[in-house]
Amino acid sequence: MFYPFARSLMFACDAEWSHNFALGSLKRLAHTPLAIAWRQQLPAKPVTVAGIAFDNPIGLAAGLDKNADCIDAFGQMGFGFIEVGTVTPRPQAGNDKPRIFRLPQAQAIINRMGFNNKGVDYLVENVKKAQYQGVLGINIGKNKDTPNEQGKDDYVHCMRKVYAHASYITVNISSPNTPGLRELQYGEALDDLLQTVRNEQLDLQAQFDKYVPIFVKIAPDMDEAEVQQVALALLRNKMDGAIATNTTLDRTMVQGLKHADEAGGLSGLPVQQKSTQVLQQLRHAVGKDFPLIGVGGIVDDASAQAKLAAGADLLQCYTGFIYRGPRLIAEIIDSL
Ligand SMILES: Cc1cc2nc3c(=O)[nH]c(=O)nc-3n(C[C@H](O)[C@H](O)[C@H](O)COP(=O)(O)O)c2cc1C
Repeated sequence: MFYPFARSLMFACDAEWSHNFALGSLKRLAHTPLAIAWRQQLPAKPVTVAGIAFDNPIGLAAGLDKNADCIDAFGQMGFGFIEVGTVTPRPQAGNDKPRIFRLPQAQAIINRMGFNNKGVDYLVENVKKAQYQGVLGINIGKNKDTPNEQGKDDYVHCMRKVYAHASYITVNISSPNTPGLRELQYGEALDDLLQTVRNEQLDLQAQFDKYVPIFVKIAPDMDEAEVQQVALALLRNKMDGAIATNTTLDRTMVQGLKHADEAGGLSGLPVQQKSTQVLQQLRHAVGKDFPLIGVGGIVDDASAQAKLAAGADLLQCYTGFIYRGPRLIAEIIDSL
């Protein structure tokens, strides 16, 4: 009952201000009695994917806790895993504000944050301080001012910094808000990046005596042939899994709504169908055993079930969680 009240207050304020206020509060209050407002004890629904044991299959998607400030609070809510980031080697401010917009009639968000984050060293310090014992994914990207030709150096830099602290690492090549980033999803650029990442993973495995799976996060704005090409590259370069999908550039589902024409990535209910279709095509192309995380438009138990039916082994949510709060996690877990 607490969340609908908190949400109505936050939705009356600017979206990014509310976001920062909420994260600041979660961070400050996680280890006080007030954490009772969001703490949930949920039934275990254990699954093992990519060799990792998860308490349940519903996780927090990347981008909500970019700097890993609130891992303990999100853990208290009952997520089966938490993905922090996207983090880049150096801190960067991101795009000019305003850069995040709510479309409540569509249960959607449009954002063009542009990988605003405090840099990988800050994130790692936060991860070290956290008490959370569950599965932690760390999502990495490249700085905006790093040319694509040197982009792989940024991914390698981040891998070396986070490897010891991550349950899995996500290579994000699908944000629409870093100019040129999505070009890394195609052709030689993709193979070149994945081969570099794979070689680095094997070096780090030897160095730390620990195998950390690599997941690649892809966009929903691809046709079936492109999804197939990505799938082949994932298999060829021995990636451990994929996350489908990031936000969409397509505005068909929100035409005429306030903010619909803002630049950036659209998430929530309007991306659900497209994202599930890409997931299904990817499942078809990679075969039944390749680990896949389904994300994009999970707003209730039915949409979670639809992702599982399309071939997801694990689920993540962001926008649905903003609209529904921690109750969404409980509802999905109950339906499993
Ligand atoms: C405000 C905002 C910021 C995001 N930032 C990131 C990010 O930094 N890295 C990333 O991989 N995905 C990012 N995402 C995408 C989400 O992780 C997710 O893939 C997408 O929103 C679709 O899921 P949803 O419909 O549940 O929101 C962001 C999404 C939103 C709404």
